[in-house]
Formats: sequence, C-alpha cells, structure tokens
Amino acid sequence: MIEISVKAGHAHKQRDDAVVLPLLNGRNLTKSSKILQQVSGKVLPAFLRKYDSTGTFGESHTLYDVEGIFTQRVMLLDVGDEKKLNLHKLRVLAAKAVRKLAQGGARDVSLFLQELAIRGTTLSDKVQAIAEGVLLGLYQFDKYQKSNESNKRKLRSVTIMIASRRDLNRAECAVTRARAIAAGTNFARDLANEPGNVCTPEYLGQQAASLSHPRLHVTVMDKQAIKTTGLNALLAVNQGSAKEPRFIVLEYQGGIEGDAPVALVGKGLTFDAGGISIKPGPQMEEMKFDMCGSAAVLGIFKAVIEMNLPVNLLGVIPSTENLLGASAYKPGDIIRGYKKDISIEIQNTDAEGRIILSDALAYAAERKPSEIIDFATLTGACVIALGAHASGLMGTGKKLKKELIASGDFTHDRVWELPMHEEYQEQIKSDIDDIRNIGGREAGTITAACFLSRFVGDIPWAHLDIAGTAWNMKGTDLSAKGATGAGVRLVLNYLMNKVSRVR
Ligand code: BES
Ligand code: ZN
Ligand code: ZN
Repeated sequence: MIEISVKAGHAHKQRDDAVVLPLLNGRNLTKSSKILQQVSGKVLPAFLRKYDSTGTFGESHTLYDVEGIFTQRVMLLDVGDEKKLNLHKLRVLAAKAVRKLAQGGARDVSLFLQELAIRGTTLSDKVQAIAEGVLLGLYQFDKYQKSNESNKRKLRSVTIMIASRRDLNRAECAVTRARAIAAGTNFARDLANEPGNVCTPEYLGQQAASLSHPRLHVTVMDKQAIKTTGLNALLAVNQGSAKEPRFIVLEYQGGIEGDAPVALVGKGLTFDAGGISIKPGPQMEEMKFDMCGSAAVLGIFKAVIEMNLPVNLLGVIPSTENLLGASAYKPGDIIRGYKKDISIEIQNTDAEGRIILSDALAYAAERKPSEIIDFATLTGACVIALGAHASGLMGTGKKLKKELIASGDFTHDRVWELPMHEEYQEQIKSDIDDIRNIGGREAGTITAACFLSRFVGDIPWAHLDIAGTAWNMKGTDLSAKGATGAGVRLVLNYLMNKVSRVR
C-alpha cells in the first residue's frame, strides 16, 4: 500500500513534486493557496484570470514549475460549489487527484483538501475521507496483466496537509483508521477479483486462515467435517462440483468475554453456473463474483483485527461452486439442511445462494449472537430494482436496519430498504413440503429474503443483497473495474459506532 501521512504546514514549504490545491467555483483559491499565490508572484493570478474553467466538480489543471514554488507540479482541482461538498465528494476529489497524478508519474504528492469547509463534519472526518479516497482510488487488480502499467507507477507517498500542529494527533488517528478500512476493502476486492480457478472454496479457507491476531480463531471445515456437522444444504449445492466445499467460522474476541457477538454471514459461491438450471452464456464469467458476500465478511475481519476493535465478532462463510454434472442436485429434489425441521423443495438450482445461506444462518443463530448481518450477491432482481448505487436491505432488526441506513449515508456505501410484509412469505410455500427455493417472478429480492428469514429465529437480523453493488464492470468514482468491496465500509462504520456508544 502507498505511504500516507499527515503534516502541518504551508504549500510553498513543501518539497514534494506535486501539490493539489482546491479551486472553488473554478476561480477562488482557499486559505493555504492564497499563501501560495503570494509566493508565486504573478503566475498563479495570471493563470486564474485566463483560466476559463467551468467550475466542474473534479476537473483539474496542472501547472509546472510555478515561480517561487519548490514543487514541480501544482494541480488546481475544481471542487465546484463549496457549499455543496460532503464527505463523499471529498473522497472522490482525493481519488481523482491522486489517480491523475499517479498516471502522470508523480512520486510524492501533498493534498490541501482538508481546509475545505463541510458542514457538520470534524477535521477527523475530513482527513479520514481524504485518506480513504486516496487508498481506495488507487486500488488496481493487475497482477495478470503482462504490460503491467501500475508497475511503472512511481507514486510512493501522499501527504494530507492540515493547518495546525495542534490537530496532528487527531488527524493521524483518522489516517490510521482509514488505512485499516481501506486494507479491509481492498482485501475484499482482491479476493473477489481472483478468477474462479484460483479463488476456490479451499482458497477462501486459506485466506481466512491467513488472518492472524491473538484474539482471532479461525476454523475451516472440510467436506468431511461439513458432513459430520450436518450442513446438508451446503453439501447439496456442492454435489455438482468436483471441488470440495468449505465452511469457515471466524471468532474474534475483542470485546468483553461472554458478551454476545455480532454475527456476519457471507455467501461464498466461488462460481455460479446455475447448476442444472444453467445460466445463459453472456456475462456468465461475472459469476466468479458470487463470493463477494464472503469477501465482505473477510474484509471486515481484516480491518477489525488491524484496528483491535473492542467488539466480539462471529463470521460464518459457506463456500462452494454451483456447477452441473451427473451427481448435481436437481429441480424437484427435497433436502433438509442444518435446521432439520424445515424441508426445502428445490425448484431452481440457480437459487443456490439462499440454500447455502440457510445452513450458515441457522448455524450462526444457534450461537445466540446479538444480531446477524448477512451479505450476499443473492438476486438478479435486486440489480433490476436498485441498480449499482444501493444494496438491498431487508430483515427483522428494526434498530439494526436504521443504523445501517445511517451508516450507509455516512460511508456512501449505501443501502435501501425493501419491505418484508407477511404476505410475501406465501410465495415460497411449497405444495409438497415446507418451503420452495423460488417464489415466482414478482418481488424476487424480497422472496429470497423471506426464505432466509426462516433460518434466523428471533435474532435481530439484517440481510444485504449486494448483487448490484458488489462489482462494477465500468468502475466507480472510488473503485476500479471489478469488485468494489461493497458492504465492508458500511458495516465497519456500524461496528465502530457501536463500540464508541458502549465506551
Ligand atoms: N448469483 C445469482 C444472483 C445474481 C444474478 C447476482 C446476477 C448478480 C447478478 C443467484 O444465485 C441467482 O442465480 N439467483 C437467481 C434466482 C432465481 C432463480 C429465483 C436469479 O436472480 O436469477
Ligand atoms: Zn444462482
Ligand atoms: Zn449465486
């Protein structure tokens, strides 16, 4: 990861090879840049007089060898109307600036973005947002590219400038937090971007086991242990695959001993071909991302152990491929999973996520956690309903959902709640047993959640359908093409708020 730090000082004192100065409405410099304006004599004012910027958010112009300034490049970054700024825009500005400078070959960059006024935010909030923007914005997954552009990148350090020494401590804490959050998010992205022939259930198990902390215990069940434990729904989906399934359990005791943990459950389908109800060909390769739920859980654990967050966490990940073959499970099959008193009729083998999650949720619920949050690329219907800009939120935990919505707004890792009225449950009634694994064309995201609800008992529960948000083939403001790490920042922020309330 790139080196990122904070410094108190003025632009003209920097010897970095690039400084980034915000430009308000395409015209006005902010405080620190006015100092810069003085030392740079006529060059900057003259430039600004002629600069016919539209004041478009994120637009930038780089000046070289400005008189009186030691740094080689001065990037003027349009932030648009200062009154319309928010923390997310700050993240995006930082990301845009460093991406462009990195492409241009800059080595050491200082950012003067913290001085922008954003209502209702603290200096820590802003520094954290800038650091997140830098670290998330620079992420790339290019290990399989022969002409590896990023290897040629020289960018090695980014400094976030603040005005006063007195704030250094707080600002450094904010950067430390951002580093952990970005490490978790980028870890999730790395896992998900790996192709299905690399990221197998076994690989996910190894990656989980590679997380190390004195208070973390990781158990990776192989097929035999899964059989002995009675995770039969996971085994049913695995029948068509030549690769063994894994069931991963992570236990982190960062909080008070004996306190109920927060359970995080993630769908770890390392490739979803649909099974016997096979998917159509176009874009099927994207189904390597069907393990993004599990990647989110592992990303959260990575950040939590890095921050030593004082919270108890239970992570549960069911992992398998969903393929087709002579022994694959079939439409019409009736199975009983870990929760033996519910029989499930398989009507479509492509609705496999809810099947493996039923075992994981029942297993997690048995441990009596204080709440359960699950992450799953569960339904194509969610992509149609909400697109790429919000994850679907459903569940039974009223307070939990409310806090997740607030956390989504703060982190911009947003969610939107869909209803779960009783009547929807009727769509998954089966004629010949308890429930069926599909509920018809209507409200597909909700009926999938209805299916899951049968396995969580009375524990407050939130379900995040990240099918539309977990990956983006065009890339987003903060994410390169591919996995976005959706859900990681959302739930990390939720957990951080939770511990700061307790303390
Ligand atoms: N992994 C898919 C859901 C999915 C589809 C995520 C497209 C992202 C993009 C899931 O296992 C699935 O195939 N769901 C089916 C359910 C249907 C058969 C009821 C779907 O959404 O089509
Ligand atoms: Zn499927
Ligand atoms: Zn799937």
